Amino acid sequence: MVNAIITGTGFYVPPRVVTNDDLVREHGMETSDEWIQQRTGIRERRFAADGVGSADLGLAATEMAVADAGIEPRDLDMIIFATLSPEHCFPGSGVYLQDKLGLTAGDALRYVPCLDIRNQCSGFLYGTQVATALIRSGQHKRVLLVGAETHSHALDLSTRGRTVASLFGDGAGAVVFEASEEDRGVRGVWLGADGSHADVLSQPLWDISRFPFVEVDEQGVGHIPPSMLFAHMDGRTVFKHAVIKLAGALMQALGETRSTLEDIDLFMLHQANKRINEYVASKLNIPAHKVPHNIERYGNTTAATIPILLAEAQRDGTLQRGMRIALAAFGSGFTWGSAIIDW
Ligand code: COA
Repeated sequence: MVNAIITGTGFYVPPRVVTNDDLVREHGMETSDEWIQQRTGIRERRFAADGVGSADLGLAATEMAVADAGIEPRDLDMIIFATLSPEHCFPGSGVYLQDKLGLTAGDALRYVPCLDIRNQCSGFLYGTQVATALIRSGQHKRVLLVGAETHSHALDLSTRGRTVASLFGDGAGAVVFEASEEDRGVRGVWLGADGSHADVLSQPLWDISRFPFVEVDEQGVGHIPPSMLFAHMDGRTVFKHAVIKLAGALMQALGETRSTLEDIDLFMLHQANKRINEYVASKLNIPAHKVPHNIERYGNTTAATIPILLAEAQRDGTLQRGMRIALAAFGSGFTWGSAIIDW
């Protein structure tokens, strides 16, 4: 049987560090380091420079992942790009990444298909299911999955936007999935969604049911009110559903693979809020040392949190060949998912 194994990981975070105090000092946000750390565990996050987009961050992460896999970008059969902060409304960021990888001209020319995934914080899990299915079906041999975000450029960094803006940061993670006869790799992915909560965490930007879809003045300039322009969130509702769905998704993954908690070496959970993950871990009796975090350094990098976590854990030796790991994420939609991977 063909398995989808991860042969390369990579990550990139922009150099600019923005501490909680910087949000107060530089942006005048009424908040405090104590408030943010107590409720989320976040100390600082990274913000990309003006002119740098999600495909740029994704490029750096991809270069590391492809080198780690020992392949060239032109060896890829498919690019899957998960983000909530794409370059543009359309086309998706995948084609921009393909171009930046040098696949559209010269000796490396290869018209690798590109697919964008719009599942926010669970984008990496949704992408993992697509990549695994493409490989297991024999359709493709090598699939790149990137999660990359430049969310900071679309955050309301004033006090009005603090509930959302204090949580998110920029970064990218990438993995290469390859077809293999080895008895390891992705054992399964379990996904879910509940669209009745679609507006609880969203960034509408426009309403396509309206004609025109944004208000346009006599000069043809569109006007978007802040309530549509920036993401908004009912934090308590998200928190409540996140702990239930994450715990349920993990239990499903364990049940489907007949794994016990002891069989799982690491739980790589989406980094939305340290308290959410600690709560889930305590409810399921998962020891803290099996639940790595980097939210204190990067905040919530949405589709990028899990691949960044994997890439860092692989490099610092936390994640080793032969381990069985569980992934889980929950986010806007609501959408969620879990996976079991034998590394
Ligand atoms: N600094 C200071 N005060 C803040 C703040 C900030 N960064 N953000 C919100 N507040 C204020 C609110 O305006 C509110 O003030 P009010 O009572 O005067 O209206 C007050 O704090 C309490 O807000 P509340 O939402 O009830 O706080 P909370 O204890 O639920 O914590 C979150 C807020 C966002 C930290 C928490 O709900 C949470 O983490 N939810 C999950 C979010 C998440 O994971 N999102 C991503 C999912 S992928």
